[in-house]
Amino acid sequence: PLVALILAGGTGTRLYPASRSNRPKQFLSFGGDDSLLTQTVDRAAFADETYVLTREAYADEIHEHAPDAAVLTEPEPKDTGPALVYAAHRVREQVGDCAMLVLPSDHHVAGDFRGVAERAARVAVETGGVATVGVEPTRPDPGYGYIEPGDPQDGYFAVKQFREKPDRETAAGYVDRGFYWNAGMFAWTPEAFLQEARESPLEPLVDALDDGDSSRGFDAVDPVSVDYAVLERSDSVFVVPADFEWDDLGAWDAIERLVDGGSGEGEDDNDNAVLGDALAVDAADNVVATDGHVSLVGVEDLIVASFDDRTLVVPKDDAQRVRDVVAELRERG
Ligand code: GDD
Ligand code: MG
Repeated sequence: PLVALILAGGTGTRLYPASRSNRPKQFLSFGGDDSLLTQTVDRAAFADETYVLTREAYADEIHEHAPDAAVLTEPEPKDTGPALVYAAHRVREQVGDCAMLVLPSDHHVAGDFRGVAERAARVAVETGGVATVGVEPTRPDPGYGYIEPGDPQDGYFAVKQFREKPDRETAAGYVDRGFYWNAGMFAWTPEAFLQEARESPLEPLVDALDDGDSSRGFDAVDPVSVDYAVLERSDSVFVVPADFEWDDLGAWDAIERLVDGGSGEGEDDNDNAVLGDALAVDAADNVVATDGHVSLVGVEDLIVASFDDRTLVVPKDDAQRVRDVVAELRERG
């Protein structure tokens, strides 16, 4: 069977202040009527079973956005590495041998998603490795993972190296050398993934889960994303090139691409991308998102986001650094 496992436990830090820890990005609806989570569940409707993987605090709201999916809650929020080990273990118990298709819930996708996803699942089963989905890059974005394809196989490639979130300069070199972006979608059999995790810093968690002690397991590992913990280390990774339209809507610069690439609705004469009510005088190429009103005069290339009496201003090129301010705010409580 094919099991879709949707990741929906992130707090959406980079979309602050629209996204807050009690209202993370997966529950928001950018570029559609339905929330990003509901759109993801619908996109995966061809799977035999669908699970949504999240933190305890979001479980109730997940049921509202995905009433037909089973909800799995990880014992502790420690990023996608530990969460996916936990999920693979649970799916192996509940479903047995199967192909798991891991899907983030912060994406815009259009085109033949199903064809690519099913190919990735097939590659995972045939190779016994980890299948990734590769998107052709259009810019040296430091917010993504990069995949160097090696030998071509039948409709996929063996992966030479996987590099998570390089700096912009390194990313530019990767783009020149023909690397793919990692779309953040993976396919594997639970057994294969757990085997890869045993050869990673997540090993103590796998061992503890094998012993039936999940709390000891979660205590024994640090927060880490699956990209750093497993994908960068494994030598059994494959990439299936995707021919669908794809974007990660997890940071504010994506809103500009969404508005630009869409109907043009929301873009004013000076190429300001606007979600909500804004007035721009002699201001160009900005991204504005607000649930109130924002006025701009004489500024360029800024992101201005204002929600719930909280305002964020950041240069467009630094959209990924919104993490830093949210980390600082959390520290201050
Ligand atoms: N259950 C759970 N628990 N889900 C989580 C957690 C967690 O602790 N942290 C994040 N998630 C979910 C998010 O809700 C999102 O749906 C998905 O996991 C990916 O997290 P992001 O935080 O959006 O990751 P990213 O965009 O920075 O990077 C990943 O995706 C890129 C493409 O979109 C990486 O895989 C990159 O390599 C990739 O290029
Ligand atoms: Mg993302």
